Amino acid sequence: MADLSTSYLGLQLKNPLIIASSTLVQNVQGIREAEAAGAGAIVLRSLFEELIREESEKQQSGVYSGHPEEYDYILSELNLQYGPQNYLKLISEAKSKVKIPIIASINCTSPKLWLNYAKQVEQAGADALELNLSLMPTNPGKTSLEIEQEFVKVIKAAKEHTKLPLAVKIGPYFTSLSRFANQICGTGIKGLVLFNRFYQFDIDIDKNEIIGANWYSHPSEMSLSLRWISILFRHVNCELAATTGIHDSRGVIKQILAGAQVVEIASTVYLNGFTVVKKILSEITSWMEHHHYQKIADFRGSLSLSKQKNPELYERLQYIKALTGIEK
Ligand SMILES: Cc1cc2nc3c(=O)[nH]c(=O)nc-3n(C[C@H](O)[C@H](O)[C@H](O)COP(=O)(O)O)c2cc1C
Repeated sequence: MADLSTSYLGLQLKNPLIIASSTLVQNVQGIREAEAAGAGAIVLRSLFEELIREESEKQQSGVYSGHPEEYDYILSELNLQYGPQNYLKLISEAKSKVKIPIIASINCTSPKLWLNYAKQVEQAGADALELNLSLMPTNPGKTSLEIEQEFVKVIKAAKEHTKLPLAVKIGPYFTSLSRFANQICGTGIKGLVLFNRFYQFDIDIDKNEIIGANWYSHPSEMSLSLRWISILFRHVNCELAATTGIHDSRGVIKQILAGAQVVEIASTVYLNGFTVVKKILSEITSWMEHHHYQKIADFRGSLSLSKQKNPELYERLQYIKALTGIEK
């Protein structure tokens, strides 16, 4: 029988399939369902830095320094259901109810007041912390270097405030991703999650307003993380987690062949229910047995760029082949 167990962020996982940070795992019931379906671990839905700041500033001075609209939204929509104190309770309750690792998640953009909260997340019993560094680079006055430096500052500050193993989830919008990935992996984080799927933007032309769109990913979106996992495997001092567009066992196997340590899924579970987890795991087992692989490490990274003799040439040749193929 093929052995699907693996390690990630220093944790032992019975398989590399993780339920990605989402509303699927925002309460104990969802987390129990994930475990029952066979998931190797879960990443809790993110807590927003603004919520932690709001609570902390109000405790200290009674005043919140953020944007007034942000404040109203936080009070009316989020804080009541998913505030910092409830989040800590959720972590400890989940830890008492399930055996799989619980990875907490904080969505942050600055090295500010939330940092002390990271310690409380650790004390509540989380096994690791994933930082969702979501920053849309809309400011035309900021250089790419300045944006990258802000990210690095946040990560370094987080490292100083918690002993939890850290993973960092980033989007794909970097000019020199290899260099940046190397730099953040050099800070001592253990995992790099590629790629965060940003809120999809659309416009309602009847109501003349901005709306969200495509809540769930499509399998075609997977190729971006597949390429970068393949490029970064063995080039960064971090374990790589793949996310976005991975909907089935073939997607998971491809990501591991490219070099992923684990795979984080959400959309396919929203669309097909938690039973998809069992199906994916059983298909991976059959595939491994068919190919005579006994454990995940037997094929992880075997199709990464690091295994190609001349990686630059390989990339260029694939590009030329693809274009000439289309022309035929
Ligand atoms: C409804 C929903 C809620 C999500 N909430 C979070 C979140 O709180 N924090 C986070 O880092 N990612 C969040 N995500 C992104 C997922 O963790 C995941 O990275 C993304 O959906 C891509 O994976 P997928 O293609 O399997 O859906 C959310 C996704 C969905 C669909």
